[in-house]
Amino acid sequence: MIDAHEDRVGPIVTLDGPAGSGKSTTAREVARRLGFRHLDSGALYRALTLALLESGIAQEEWAEMDEHAMRALDVTVTPRGTELEVTVGGRRVGRELRSEEVTSRVAYLASLPAARACLLNLQRAAGAQGRLVADGRDMGSVVFPHADVKVYLVADLGERARRRLKDGGVEEPSGDDVESQSAVIARRDRHDSEREHSPLRKPEDAHLLDTTRLTFEDQVTAVIELVEGV
Ligand code: DC
Repeated sequence: MIDAHEDRVGPIVTLDGPAGSGKSTTAREVARRLGFRHLDSGALYRALTLALLESGIAQEEWAEMDEHAMRALDVTVTPRGTELEVTVGGRRVGRELRSEEVTSRVAYLASLPAARACLLNLQRAAGAQGRLVADGRDMGSVVFPHADVKVYLVADLGERARRRLKDGGVEEPSGDDVESQSAVIARRDRHDSEREHSPLRKPEDAHLLDTTRLTFEDQVTAVIELVEGV
């Protein structure tokens, strides 16, 4: 299936980048200010991981499942007003997607082609009408190659680690905290960039935005200016 850009009534904006670069929070706020929907594609990979864990299928068996078997896990994404609601087996999911159990397995799930194929159509359907801000690793490169505005966010590893720690409630992270969190993020970066299918890459036509020294407000404004410039 190709990106059905002919049917769109509004723009698609993609934000890709490594873990902790500020994609999701920026995307959510940009969407809110523009009155667009926000697609957090990482949440879909997490929902599929949760569905697998809940169905009791051992991780060693995940690689043998085809796209059809992945679809049977019943992950959906449905527009509800300005929100996109993610469900697993008909149940709305949210906080549980951030659990340690899901977080430690989702990168493996995201490396499986059947999982990516299963989620590709869901993501494109969510964006079929445009007026969408989508964040992830392959939004501009694979899922929405015809997006109107593509942004690729980067930030120094130490800064990304500090942000993750602060998001997790650590007000003043120590040097040791930052070092160990940096190691965790660097491992995820490697996993996301070196995988065979849809690796994390800056699309050639994406605007590079280094957020290391930007405030959150600066980040949001920079993306909105790009959208308003098209
Ligand atoms: O952004 P996040 O931490 O919620 O992403 C969870 C995992 O899903 C992470 O390992 C990267 C992967 N992912 C992906 O492969 N492609 C996407 N478009 C979004 C996330």
